[in-house]
Amino acid sequence: MQEKINNLKKEILDKLSQAKDSRFLKELEVFYLGRKGEFTKILRDIANVAPEERSAAGKFANEVKNEIQKKFNELKEKFEESSEDVKDIDVSLPGEKINIGHLHPITQIQYEIEDIFNSMGFAVLDGPELESDYYNFEAINIPPHHPARDMQDTFYIDLPNKDGENDLVMRTHTSSVQVRAMLKHGAPLKAIVTGRVFRSEALDVRHEHTFYQVEGFLIDKDINFSHLKGILELVGKKLFGPETEIRMRPKFYPFVEPGTNGEYTCNICHGKGCNLCKKTGWLEIVGAGMIHPNVLKAGGIDPNEYQGYAFGFGLNRLAQLKYNTDDVRLFNGGDLRFINQF
Ligand code: FA5
Repeated sequence: MQEKINNLKKEILDKLSQAKDSRFLKELEVFYLGRKGEFTKILRDIANVAPEERSAAGKFANEVKNEIQKKFNELKEKFEESSEDVKDIDVSLPGEKINIGHLHPITQIQYEIEDIFNSMGFAVLDGPELESDYYNFEAINIPPHHPARDMQDTFYIDLPNKDGENDLVMRTHTSSVQVRAMLKHGAPLKAIVTGRVFRSEALDVRHEHTFYQVEGFLIDKDINFSHLKGILELVGKKLFGPETEIRMRPKFYPFVEPGTNGEYTCNICHGKGCNLCKKTGWLEIVGAGMIHPNVLKAGGIDPNEYQGYAFGFGLNRLAQLKYNTDDVRLFNGGDLRFINQF
């Protein structure tokens, strides 16, 4: 009998050494120590042992049983402490928050502007970032070697286009889409273009090499400067609040005539003068003007029949002003501590 008990004890301890969780432990306990368990059967068999040996056998079996039970209890405690144990999961606790991110602040402003113009019936158009010299410059009245090209430092691409000509540039502004849109849709036309543009700039707190612009244009009959002023004033009020005013001062852009630089009441000091607006009370936000007849002609539109206005906002600058950040480069700097604030 003693040998039988020792063999079973060895088998049980062996199995216990392989136990990895409380579920397996429970199964072992039922199998060996349960009511119909293997060890319990041996305890019952003690009744059949010869009377002179019965008491010693009973004592020995009980000692072994206690020893095994103690081992079971120790392991039970160990698994209960382990976090993997199913018992430790409190299903009533809120789940772990999944970090899904959010729209970039520039994208937020882009969508805000697209919504404003969409609500006034403007289509949202797209154009290529790798552009031909023709659409970026020539078609919008900036011929080769014209000094106006110096206004925008350009990344020229040293590769031939599909016709074998070396005329590719990274577009320097979204104005490159004006003539493409005219040729595709004709007049009347009412659209905005949002997208990324590139300039070989000396970088500083106001200048990035890669930034975003929104271009807008409207071409129809009897369009004049007051329409341009009206729409820019409305956009300013939507973006910066109903008190916002606009002032327009002359500025040269080859693709518009007359050309203007639109300034809005400073949204920080409301026109009183502060550091952001350099004490003037006004913020330079938008380049604009009446579309030059040469541009309409390049787009296949008769300037004697149709007129139009065009304007261009820098989205990074808008974001910089809206969030009052001193360095425009922060927006595309990849630092999540900055981006996660918006
Ligand atoms: C233009 O790009 C014209 N295409 C805008 C235009 C469209 C004028 C239609 C007339 C009619 P400009 O070079 O001024 O203009 O740039 C427009 C805006 O882009 C600027 O007001 C500024 O907000 C932004 N911008 C220009 N350069 C940078 C730069 N390096 N980094 C960040 N933003 C810039």
